[in-house]
Amino acid sequence: MSASDKIALDDQARAILRGNDRGGYTVPTDGLYPYQWNWDSAFAAWGFATFDIDRAWEEVETLLSGQWPSGMVPHILFHREDPGYFPGPDVWGASNGPIPSSGISQPPVAAPFMRAIWEQDRAAGEARLRALLPKLVAWHRWFMRWRNRDGMIFIAHPWEAGRDNCADWDSAMAMIDPVGVGEYTRRDTSHVNPEMRPTKEDYDRYIWLVQRGRRMGWDDATMAADWPFQVADPTMTFILLRAHRDLADMLEALGEARGEVDAWIREMEEGALRLRNPETGFFDAINLATMEHTGHLTSASYLNWYAGIEDDAMLGHLEHCFETVRYPVPSLAVTSPDFNPKRYWRGPTWGIMNALIGIGLKDMGHAGHAETLRDLTAGLIAEHGFAEYFDPQTGGAAGGGTFTWTAAVWLAWATPSQGDS
Ligand code: SER
Repeated sequence: MSASDKIALDDQARAILRGNDRGGYTVPTDGLYPYQWNWDSAFAAWGFATFDIDRAWEEVETLLSGQWPSGMVPHILFHREDPGYFPGPDVWGASNGPIPSSGISQPPVAAPFMRAIWEQDRAAGEARLRALLPKLVAWHRWFMRWRNRDGMIFIAHPWEAGRDNCADWDSAMAMIDPVGVGEYTRRDTSHVNPEMRPTKEDYDRYIWLVQRGRRMGWDDATMAADWPFQVADPTMTFILLRAHRDLADMLEALGEARGEVDAWIREMEEGALRLRNPETGFFDAINLATMEHTGHLTSASYLNWYAGIEDDAMLGHLEHCFETVRYPVPSLAVTSPDFNPKRYWRGPTWGIMNALIGIGLKDMGHAGHAETLRDLTAGLIAEHGFAEYFDPQTGGAAGGGTFTWTAAVWLAWATPSQGDS
């Protein structure tokens, strides 16, 4: 990549973040996702930190300002109504927090990215971090209190993992009969080719679960007593374990007690290993209704290093993936009968997952593997743009365009400019 190409791409990425900025928060992309999404926003903050540290803090402050009294931080904050999105605030019917929102959460990458921001801004950022840490602790406590099964974190809705139509949910989704869901009009398929989006069968179940949560007032105890979709998820489990570690270190650095978080780390270090499928040897999800492993090798399987867990078999799978897939890491192994190179989380490669996998590899001493993944991701974005996700075989752009988190991943991790620093 020439120096001028590199500068042009860096400029384009910054322009995407600025363009998707709605004042204090960033939308994932114009049109398709017109609100503040939880983990998108944490990635956005990480991207902003490369050129506007104040704006980076503001992003996470706005995100955490939507926290519910229970500690839950919603996956969508509906700051301003937008008729272009379904299901909006009227469908969720969740008025449990200070801002209209969805009723579920999302992978808590906020703590690791806040740590990254604070490490660039230690002196000036300390007061802002200090104000936010209790909110992070309360959010993490919420996960440990209600989404914790033996140290594994489960999701209560496919949207909660962020990997909406991943094959990991298929067995649990098949147990739902979405009777009574009624008529509704999807908006996503008017923004994006329907072949790149979840099917109607999936959507009926997504909406059926939302209607059920709404009837229960999104009350944790009521839902915990009778909730039909519970899948222990490697995304949530590995990310929360990593987030606990960063949170504990930040608490200690600011002179606060870290004991409660350390106890969560110990519990999850044991729990995360339960996600290792004894038959295949790789990490996957477990449908808690049957206690069966889902048997799918996904990009989330490789988040073990991000959680601080070494695994030689996963390194072997990754090397095989590097050798056989032009643009790794596919969200579902290309050898799976369910693989589809274009359909959202059933095959496409996502820059955000590559970044998390790459950070984990580097932290755990696999600098060569991390660099390979970073180079491949940089090439993919340079050739095919700042798309939401990519065909892992051709690199073809898929989903929404001018995507915030792909721009953020470029600026904070993939760009060759990072290598210069
Ligand atoms: N990803 C979901 C959607 O497509 C919601 O988080 O709307």
